[in-house]
Amino acid sequence: MKILIVANWKMNPQTLIEARELFNSVKNGIKDIKNVEVVICPPFIYLPKVKSQGSEIKIGAQDCFWEEKGAFTGEISPKMLKNFGCQYVILGHSERRKYLNETDEMINKKLKAALKANLKAILCIGEAKGERELAKTKEILKRELQKDLKGIENSKFEIKNLILAYEPIWAIGSGKSCQPAQVREINLFLAKILAQRQLRGVRILYGGSVNSQNADLYLKKAQSQGLLVGGASLKANDFLKILKKVSNS
Ligand code: PGA
Repeated sequence: MKILIVANWKMNPQTLIEARELFNSVKNGIKDIKNVEVVICPPFIYLPKVKSQGSEIKIGAQDCFWEEKGAFTGEISPKMLKNFGCQYVILGHSERRKYLNETDEMINKKLKAALKANLKAILCIGEAKGERELAKTKEILKRELQKDLKGIENSKFEIKNLILAYEPIWAIGSGKSCQPAQVREINLFLAKILAQRQLRGVRILYGGSVNSQNADLYLKKAQSQGLLVGGASLKANDFLKILKKVSNS
């Protein structure tokens, strides 16, 4: 299976011209890159524009709602994304949990709706700095998984479309990435929980201050199956360096 590298542009860039430039630079730069599935998740309003540029790059959204249609002002449904040609959606990102008060119950509903619509759903989980300092990381992750994956079973959903992203909150945008050895320990822990729940084929990504220096270590040393890249995906050269490095690793 190809390594999965997901660019989370968050609320950037500020103009369509910049968005197109960034997308096209990545598109032109990845022509000789093999073994990597590249997904770009721009803000909603740029989705149609980058999609129309046509390329191997898959596109994803940074969120979706849990209902299919109706009176939900401002929301976008998984079905709309799917019908439009979006293949991926990021759910439960810690910034949404923090700034928009997204709860595990909401994330669980979104996840079910996204999987039902046949989107590949990237569920983000991770501990805060204080929780790690109190050695509560595994407890937090276990609790998040229990709630976020409630009712998600093999018999009801296409589990191979579920992807986990371990994103320690303290590592996001801080320049302080998590040590690959620590990520490896978490990956093993998460894999064990998934196995207990008979959820097979779920890939586990790492996210949090990934750059071209450390990217390959998460794949080689931590055995993550891909990366979720924020800041370093906003400069085409930086992102391309990451892609080249992981494709050679
Ligand atoms: P970062 O963000 O790479 O800027 O740390 C990662 C993320 O939030 O997904």
